[in-house]
Amino acid sequence: MPPVLRKFPLPTAAVAAALLLGACGSEGIEVSQGDPEYDGAVLFAERCSGCHTLSAAGTEGSANRALRNQGPNLNERIESHEDVLYAIRNGGFSGAIMPQNIVVGDEAEAVAAFVAKHAGSEVDRPPQPGEESSASASDAP
Ligand code: HEC
Repeated sequence: MPPVLRKFPLPTAAVAAALLLGACGSEGIEVSQGDPEYDGAVLFAERCSGCHTLSAAGTEGSANRALRNQGPNLNERIESHEDVLYAIRNGGFSGAIMPQNIVVGDEAEAVAAFVAKHAGSEVDRPPQPGEESSASASDAP
């Protein structure tokens, strides 16, 4: 892994969780180990947690909005599998801040499956055309 872009202001829960992952593998992750999205959750906690909040992965990376490199809180966004893959390859939607290809290949697929299923847990609005019908995305394919 490249050095973290800039030093974290605090030993946040996300960083702690990422460090603990090597030891026990499930710290902060709400997806259970037999779950098909578990690998993606672990990868997300390792690679994406510095910048994105997503409760299912136990990450709080969006907490400090003063830092420009903080990504959107994914609890508040509904993301499709394709959109997550696009963001991973392109470096976010704008291509400006998020590093490209933090994960690739099967790992990118696993992260995308996990994010598509678990992002948007705090979204409270009617479904949009082309999106899953429920904000919880529990009926995602
Ligand atoms: C260095 C910080 C950083 C890391 C690490 C990071 N991101 Fe991002 N991400 C951002 C920023 C900033 C944006 C918003 C700007 C943009 O879209 O270009 C973003 C945007 C996104 C978006 C689009 C969200 C939306 O609805 O606009 C997705 C999806 C996403 N990231 C997923 C991921 C995944 C998955 C990972 C781990 C593989 C990851 N990010 C790692 C900073 C980061």
